[in-house]
Amino acid sequence: AQYQIAVVVGSLRRDSFNRQFAHALVKLAPPEFSFKFVEIGDLPLYNQDDDGSPAESVKRLKGEISAAQGLIFVTPEYNRSIPGVLKNALDHASRPYGQSVWKGKPAGVIGVSIGAIGTALAQQHLRNILAYLDVPTLGAPEAFIQHKDGLIDANGQIGEASKQFVQGWVDQYVAWVKRHTG
Ligand code: FNR
Repeated sequence: AQYQIAVVVGSLRRDSFNRQFAHALVKLAPPEFSFKFVEIGDLPLYNQDDDGSPAESVKRLKGEISAAQGLIFVTPEYNRSIPGVLKNALDHASRPYGQSVWKGKPAGVIGVSIGAIGTALAQQHLRNILAYLDVPTLGAPEAFIQHKDGLIDANGQIGEASKQFVQGWVDQYVAWVKRHTG
């Protein structure tokens, strides 16, 4: 079987460590997995008044999530939670009521921070949201990555010091998706 995975990066920053990390991480997946990086920076601020006439960017987001067999969230921590841009995307694709596209999609959460606890609190907030959205989320291994020079090498691969750890996370994520998609 082939698996298409939607990757949602929680930072819009041009040189985002999380985006760089996400691109390196997907290189560790087996060939039957392909990855679609979902754009969230062009979404309007969610407004329930617009549920009946969603923007093109919202329709595109929902279509890309619907088409995916699994999800990966790669997010920084902002003020001990997830960035507003990520919450905005989660809210958009959860509505109108009863038409959420998240439900049942197996997910992994991971993130890079310059802080010592490496997105742990943001990931816990995200898990809470995903639980409500009925998204089965990989519980272990947890991966709280602190950014250091060499995390991503010159070829855009995970650096030597972290490669084995991140490969272990990817292997468990792959098994998680297969288990939930039969
Ligand atoms: C941060 N940063 C941060 N780091 C952290 O470990 N815990 C936190 O609560 C916060 N809070 C926070 C708030 C805001 C508004 C910003 C802009 C930044 C620092 C953060 O880890 C750092 O900026 C990363 O580089 C963000 O990830 P990207 O954009 O490089 O992917």
